[in-house]
Amino acid sequence: MSARRPMIAGNWKMNGLLADGKALAAGVADKRKGIGADAPFDILVCPPFPLITTVVDAVAGSGVAVGGQDCHMNVSGAHTGDTSATMLKDAGCGFAIVGHSERRTDHGETDATVKAKAEAALAAGLKVIVCIGETLEEREAGKTIDINKSQLNGSLPDGATAENCIVAYEPVWAIGTGKVATPEQAQEVHAAIRAELTAMVGGDIAGGMRILYGGSMKPGNAAELMGQADIDGGLIGGAALKVEDFWGIAEAAK
Ligand code: PGA
Repeated sequence: MSARRPMIAGNWKMNGLLADGKALAAGVADKRKGIGADAPFDILVCPPFPLITTVVDAVAGSGVAVGGQDCHMNVSGAHTGDTSATMLKDAGCGFAIVGHSERRTDHGETDATVKAKAEAALAAGLKVIVCIGETLEEREAGKTIDINKSQLNGSLPDGATAENCIVAYEPVWAIGTGKVATPEQAQEVHAAIRAELTAMVGGDIAGGMRILYGGSMKPGNAAELMGQADIDGGLIGGAALKVEDFWGIAEAAK
């Protein structure tokens, strides 16, 4: 673990009704309150849009941050079904995830779209988590590092700093599959991402920017992953839907 403050972020995806979200958020808030002001990590939950205000209320005063799973690149307008970063901020969010592989696949989001969304999030005063990651086919073709570098170059917002921007490395083949990257596989890519960040934004920013791992992270594999020099926390899907599992991962970040 590095000097960078770990972040444990839950991506709830399209899961949970109001009562579930409220209970999950309250459970995470209780755990977070239990460790008091000196928590050695940041905790974030990213519920589906209709649950955001309920979750914001449920975690109020606990130190748990709330984020959206996506945002539109524009502030407002004729974009049926979309939600702007300004709306997320207004609803009590502090973060937005952009460029998740499910958005890239399900909604055809390109690096340019992701970058525009990330810049909209920063302009709205949110912090942004920019997701990148290779598919199994790309890994097997030996293109892992090139793909991640190219997605990073295309998706990182202008104005990214260590404070306002986090990168999440999520190998697509590890998401929701139970196939976790080995700590060595993940560290190799995280180190390459940090080297590329250094080339893009300079060593000071790159050295302070957090790079999260995502893809089948669980309490049982989290400590080893987060023990790697360039892994600064996790973006967690399935295991973020149970308080005990999510908190088990957070404890591994200590
Ligand atoms: P998973 O999802 O933990 O269920 O693999 C991670 C993610 O997609 O953010």
